[in-house]
Parts: sequence; structure tokens; C-alpha cells
Amino acid sequence: MQTSQITAELSRHYDLAPSLEKAAATEEIYARTSRVISPPEWAIHAPYVAEINRLKKERNAVILAHNYMTPEIYHGIADFVGDSLQLAIKATEVEAPVIVQCGVHFMAETSKVLNPSKTVLIPDPQAGCSLAESITAEGVAQMRAKYPGAPVVSYVNTTAEVKAASDICCTSSNALQIVEAMESDTVIMTPDKYLAQNVANESSKNVVFWDGSCIVHELYTPEDLRAYRENMPGLKIIAHPECTPEVVAEADFTGSTKGIIDWVHAEKPARAMLVTECSMASNIADELPEVDFAKPCNMCPYMKKITLEKVLWSLHTMSPEVTVDPAVADGARRAVERMIDLSRKLQG
Ligand code: 13P
Ligand code: SF4
Repeated sequence: MQTSQITAELSRHYDLAPSLEKAAATEEIYARTSRVISPPEWAIHAPYVAEINRLKKERNAVILAHNYMTPEIYHGIADFVGDSLQLAIKATEVEAPVIVQCGVHFMAETSKVLNPSKTVLIPDPQAGCSLAESITAEGVAQMRAKYPGAPVVSYVNTTAEVKAASDICCTSSNALQIVEAMESDTVIMTPDKYLAQNVANESSKNVVFWDGSCIVHELYTPEDLRAYRENMPGLKIIAHPECTPEVVAEADFTGSTKGIIDWVHAEKPARAMLVTECSMASNIADELPEVDFAKPCNMCPYMKKITLEKVLWSLHTMSPEVTVDPAVADGARRAVERMIDLSRKLQG
């Protein structure tokens, strides 16, 4: 359904006109994001935030949101926020019968795979991912044929079919440990060539990889980073491992989205550049008033498909629901659960 149709339909059921009164009633939430959202803008979001929070109780739903969600989603309506590993673990613990996944499709699929009996809603099923779209189960089979006997470690940024065709999954926060834990000397990583190269640079294994990339992180260049460092003395550069190895080499720290947030909290640099998706800096700006966040950032067009309007519509209609073929789900669950178990064991 088009956004304009959703807006029209929603206005027949809810009073969603910008409201200073509703903004005042949600000022406790607003206080968590006032550095990046202006008061007039909050007056637009507040009616949606209020309705979503009311309806989610009525529907007995839990909202799981990725760290790349916009601040009004991240601070306004999410019950739990995190990186891909945290969201996958949280999905195994949810007791409510309904999960609304504010993130991209593979994340919602992972929640469904881990919770087959629950209703998992994704506010926009078109919220894809360039990595997930770069490989199919057939691609995994090709890699196995090319490197016989080598285990396949697939990034969670893949479809359930690809997970089911893999030996184990990994996320950006445990990729190196998972690869190191494989018994074989050669390990196949799919689908992110840059994550694989970054892992290979620190691993004792022969890492071979699929040719996929993230359209957001591959845009950063080491030249850009050096220019920022020269112009902003004291700047700390923190990168996501989906960036190229050349960019990672320029960074002061590299980690998953949770790793990045934790590092900035611990170090509190006067100036920081988060070499990742734009909303990351916006979401933590109010918690860290002492940090000046430098641009540029790049936006993920897929993550940005999730909006307050679509979340409200999703809860209103209890759709679109994510479904996964049960046989595929069994295979994917095995790969994701193996990752979660190994991750827990490796962390002690
Ligand atoms: P994280 O697991 O680090 O949150 O990354 C997910 C993602 O899609 C990054 O682009
Ligand atoms: Fe996929 Fe990149 Fe968007 Fe993450 S930022 S969801 S890897 S396209």
C-alpha cells in the first residue's frame, strides 16, 4: 500500500494531527532525543508515538528495533533496541504473542525462525538489504563445490534459505570468533566480502568469500576519513566492519553497531565520526552531550522504509506478517541457534 493511502486510512481511525498537547504528554520520551528532533517536529511525531504505544499494549505486542531506526522509533516506541546479535537473542526470549520488527526483512525472518509460534510483523516487507539480496542457497552450493569440506559461515544479513544452506551464522559482533572456532583451515564466509576480508586480516584461517557488499558502508573511502581527521583535530573515527579493509585501517575502533555505541560511551571522545548509518549518531546524541558527532554519514534506504506511520498501520491491521516455510525455518534455526550457543560459550 502507498504511504499516501496509509495516511488517509489511518486518519479515518486516529487523530494524528500535529499536537502540542500530545507533545507535552510525551515530553519524557522527547527528553531522550531533544538534541536531534526539534519541538515542532516532535509535535508531528507525538500523536503517532502515543497511538502506537497504546495499541501495542492492546495487541500484546513487543517492538524490537535495530540501532539504525530513526530516533522517533528508537526512543519513542521500541521495547528493545540493539544490534543484529542482540535482536536475535532477544527474539528467543520474547513472551508476548506478537513481535513488530522495526528493522529489515532478514531481521524479521530471524525472529520468526526463532519463534515459529508467534506472529511477527514487519511494517514494510520491502525493507530489504543489499547483502541479503546478493546471494541465494544456490550461491552457497557453488561455494561448497569450489571449496569441498570447508564450513560455510553466513552473516545474519541473509535470507532464511541461505541460513538453512549454511553451517552456522555470524553477526558483525562475533564473526571473528565464529570463524576461529571452525575446525577447518579454510572457512567460507558469505555474503559480505568486506566483513570477510576484515575477519581474514585478524584470523589464522584461510577465509574465502562471496562477492557481496553493503551499499551503505562501501561508500566510505579512506581519503574521506583522512580529510576529516586533518580538518578536525582530536577526531575519533569508529567504523563498522562492513566497511572496506582500507577504511577499517583508518579507524580508531571497529565494531558492530552495539560495539560502536559501547565504545563511544566508554571513551567519550570530544569529536567522533561514526562510519556507519546516519541514525546511529542521532540515537545516542542526547545520552552523550559532551560528544560532537561529525558528519558525513550514509543512510540505509532499506532501514528508512520503516516509519512511525507504517508501524501504526501494521499494528492496526496486524499485517504484513512474516512467514517462513517450516522446513527452511528448521534449517535456518539450526544455523542461528548454533551461532547463539557458540557466542555464549565463547563469552564465558
Ligand atoms: P549490526 O549487527 O552491527 O547491528 O549490523 C547490522 C547491519 O545491517 C549493519 O549494516
Ligand atoms: Fe543491509 Fe547495509 Fe542496510 Fe545494513 S546498512 S541493512 S547491511 S544495506
